[in-house]
Amino acid sequence: MTTAELKTLIDKLEEKSSLGKDEYVELIKNRGAEIDQYLFKRSQAVSQKHFDNKVFSRGLIELSSYCQNDCYYCGIRKSNKNAERYRLDKGQILSCCENGYGLGFRTFVLQGGEDPFFNDEILCDIVFEIRNKYPDCAITLSLGERSRESYEKLFDAGANRYLLRHETADSDHYSRLHPAELTLANRIKCLQDLKDIGYQVGCGFMVGSPFQTSEHLAEDLVFIQEFRPHMVGIGPFIPHHDTPFADCAAGTVELTLFMLGLVRLILPNGLLPSTTALGTIDLDGREKGLLVGANVVMPNLSPVEVRKKYLLYDNKICTGEEAGECRLCLDNRIKKIGYELVSARGDYTEGDGKNV
Ligand code: 5AD
Ligand code: FES
Repeated sequence: MTTAELKTLIDKLEEKSSLGKDEYVELIKNRGAEIDQYLFKRSQAVSQKHFDNKVFSRGLIELSSYCQNDCYYCGIRKSNKNAERYRLDKGQILSCCENGYGLGFRTFVLQGGEDPFFNDEILCDIVFEIRNKYPDCAITLSLGERSRESYEKLFDAGANRYLLRHETADSDHYSRLHPAELTLANRIKCLQDLKDIGYQVGCGFMVGSPFQTSEHLAEDLVFIQEFRPHMVGIGPFIPHHDTPFADCAAGTVELTLFMLGLVRLILPNGLLPSTTALGTIDLDGREKGLLVGANVVMPNLSPVEVRKKYLLYDNKICTGEEAGECRLCLDNRIKKIGYELVSARGDYTEGDGKNV
């Protein structure tokens, strides 16, 4: 395809918020500096139309580094005998929230490995307490695959949102990233259950994961345009030294930004974090993500003592800083690019107008 034809595809995507798989493949395979800039101009404009220069923040609390799963890419997979394990107790979690509330966070994200210790009873009690103490805050969970009943109980206890990346929308690719007991079909069932229950739902994928092709990325985009999640987490794959993928190459900043730009055109109102992984492969990666259409950052509220133990990939940034330091650092970084970190809950809203 010529550059002119590729630009026409981007115009069509902006107008219709969807393309066919083959059209995405063309864009991904033939992208280069000129197409990148053309896309980023459009994706930035769409983001600013809905969100001005405002960036929502979510305080991330990493509950547990125990995980019963064995995803080949992940540093806290159960087979990693070198991973140091920890779990926060209720008091520690609540004090992260208290600290975060004082720093202006109005969304708490409870994330962790799939740790059976956090059964429904224990988790619902924690969610219920946060809900009562902070009625003005959103509670987001990111705790992996659970039963529909479990998702229902947690919703009833006061959780509002759930993040569960689909990782890849191609089932063969999925099976090369995960052991046989994990399937794309079940992942998608969980996402559908969450949406049906009434959660604001986030899916997402890694860019540059081992064996990934342009066709796989195109399938991710088609999945997103059909499923229409409220949030999409996109970050580069980064190898972790104690996993089977230790020697694989990391994803690139350029391709990650390109995927963010395309997803902004698919979901003009969507909540798109500029991820820690993007900030890890490029020290200005999070700013670059915001400039191509991301509108959320998720700094860490976990106690500093445990941060180095929640290592999904190597060289993760912000593992030595206190929550307040990260908040200040991000405030400054965001100001420097002419954007503003806001305290609003930042719920998903439909429509053609402003979302802030
Ligand atoms: N590199 C980048 N992202 C990773 N994740 C897990 N391991 C890695 C890695 N090595 C992502 C997965 C998961 C999210 C919590 O972190 O997409 O869903
Ligand atoms: Fe954590 Fe900059 S955001 S140190």
